[in-house]
Amino acid sequence: MEVVIVPDAKSGGELIAEAMAQLLRRKPEALLGVATGSTPLPIYQALTAKVRSGAVDTSRARIAQLDEYVGLPAEHPESYRSVLRREVLEPLGIGMDAFMGPDGTAEDVQAACEAYDAALAGAGGVDLQLLGIGTDGHIGFNEPCSSLASRTRIKTLTEQTRVDNARFFDGDISQVPHHVITQGIGTILEARHLVLLATGLGKADAVAATVEGPVAAVCPASALQLHPHATVVVDEGAASKLKLADYFRHTYVNKPEWQGI
Ligand code: GLP
Repeated sequence: MEVVIVPDAKSGGELIAEAMAQLLRRKPEALLGVATGSTPLPIYQALTAKVRSGAVDTSRARIAQLDEYVGLPAEHPESYRSVLRREVLEPLGIGMDAFMGPDGTAEDVQAACEAYDAALAGAGGVDLQLLGIGTDGHIGFNEPCSSLASRTRIKTLTEQTRVDNARFFDGDISQVPHHVITQGIGTILEARHLVLLATGLGKADAVAATVEGPVAAVCPASALQLHPHATVVVDEGAASKLKLADYFRHTYVNKPEWQGI
């Protein structure tokens, strides 16, 4: 696992956007796995600025969704499909025809999950998967004790995650769905490059467990330790509980084993 400590969220966003731009220059039709939440917004802003300045071309890029609420109509403003359309696709000038995601309103949720896993594989797999992290260590919506081999499936949210996400529903927890579809941890691990961004003190415990704890289902993000190319980008707040912070800080580009983000 490569750990990069950046001064703030904005620089983390710029660093990751540059990695995405480099990927798109190499592979214009790359399949980008995107995440929701507040954390990745600086990435999308930095990538949008690159598109607008002509530094990168997203006209052939494809976008894959990580997770979705069950039962919210696609046009609900807080369905992750709507959020991604607003925050990623429209700013980057990518049409919905280049977008893939699970159907959170399907009558047969299990079949929709299997269909999404098959669609991801059929599209050649995700080239770069962006991830945030929940305060409980979840990635996507794989809550603690999710199988590390899991495939896309329905999950029940913990109370903590519903409390954390109530801010997107006018602070009203009763509006936050209980169930979600999420790419499984096994599905996520199939992406060619995983890039997790975590910012702020509130993520410090989850980041320490992810990077320095054992690989354990109780901290789903720790599964990144099993991936041959996983990059964890953290600001000083999120890095504040890392025992190896000094080792990680400022030294990453000088290591011969550095794979680049
Ligand atoms: C949600 C999403 C995750 C995201 C997490 C953290 O639960 N399903 O993909 O990583 O929130 O969100 P934030 O970045 O807003 O802290």
